[in-house]
Amino acid sequence: MQITELSTPALLLDQTVMEENASIMKGVLQGTKMRLYPHYKSHKCPMIAKMQIDQGAAGITCAKLGEADDLVREGIQNVVIANQVVQQEKLPLLASLAKRAQLTVCVDDEENIRALEAAMAAEGGHLGILVEYEVGMRRCGVETFEEVLRLARIISTLPHLTFSGIQAYAGHISHEEDGEKRRRELLRIETEVARLKGYLEERGVPVFHVCGGSTGYCAEKPDDTVYTQLQAGSYLFMDSSYQALGLPFRQALYVLTSVVSVKPDRVVVDCGVKTLTMDQHAPFFPAFPDAELSFSEEHTTIFAENTELLPGDMLLCVPGHCCTTINTFDRIHLIQGEDVLHVWPITSRGKAQ
Ligand SMILES: Cc1ncc(COP(=O)(O)O)c(C=O)c1O
Repeated sequence: MQITELSTPALLLDQTVMEENASIMKGVLQGTKMRLYPHYKSHKCPMIAKMQIDQGAAGITCAKLGEADDLVREGIQNVVIANQVVQQEKLPLLASLAKRAQLTVCVDDEENIRALEAAMAAEGGHLGILVEYEVGMRRCGVETFEEVLRLARIISTLPHLTFSGIQAYAGHISHEEDGEKRRRELLRIETEVARLKGYLEERGVPVFHVCGGSTGYCAEKPDDTVYTQLQAGSYLFMDSSYQALGLPFRQALYVLTSVVSVKPDRVVVDCGVKTLTMDQHAPFFPAFPDAELSFSEEHTTIFAENTELLPGDMLLCVPGHCCTTINTFDRIHLIQGEDVLHVWPITSRGKAQ
């Protein structure tokens, strides 16, 4: 099948560029003690997760219990939920997954730790625990070394939980376009997290893993980074948001659109904000890189005068944010040139629970 035969809007993934991005990531990690735990939230596609494991990833990170459920069902043996699982209704499923795979979750609250222990005890499951430490994003995570130590010591007394280490995700800096500012803040976080690890170990609490990092982080990390698990997701795909940072990865993901209307001052294509998400950065059309765009639910207007385009012509769009854009599609088309090689389901799209 050729891409010109696809019904639009359609999600395209350039297989050659994706493979290049995977091998660039291998190079980035070479010589460090960091292992890749790519983030599933970026693609929600078990076929891609399995490919990442086959290419050397030590496990898969995800954000939601529903995603972990899909990953374990697909045979992924090592899954990190880089998030808190708090709601009581969710704990039986968490415990049943913990019996079938090596599963790790984040915590920042004692009550939650005790609820996790009770759920694991009831099912006979065992769970790895990362205490989340807040490094500046102002999302989840405890805010003092003393509180990390207190929670780690509680976890160490509970028979169905193991204290695996620290989650320290610096999401506030991943997309910082000022390279100097990004490097300065990442160095501050590296130093602080290394001090936290030392603080815990001096008090008899071994820290096996330090987890976090993103696509924006990994290009800047020091070779002797304290992090042991890299949770980057976007590096395989890229988007206009990450393109602005000048990272070593290339654009592999596109939305294929069709022109539905042409006027002397504009061209209108068949996808809008219900397809092209806007949470981080505006998408762009490589054929009209500087054109003003206007978005509605199912249309994007490209203000370009007297183009030779006709209704039915196709245009490629670079998504603003790959992770949220992929989540709007049912399938991803792996392409090479004009050929569609594979069509893979985005099984976990919409799995928000
Ligand atoms: C916990 C966690 N790790 C890593 C990432 C980074 O992913 P990316 O490489 O796509 O920026 C995110 C992004 O939301 C995240 O929430």
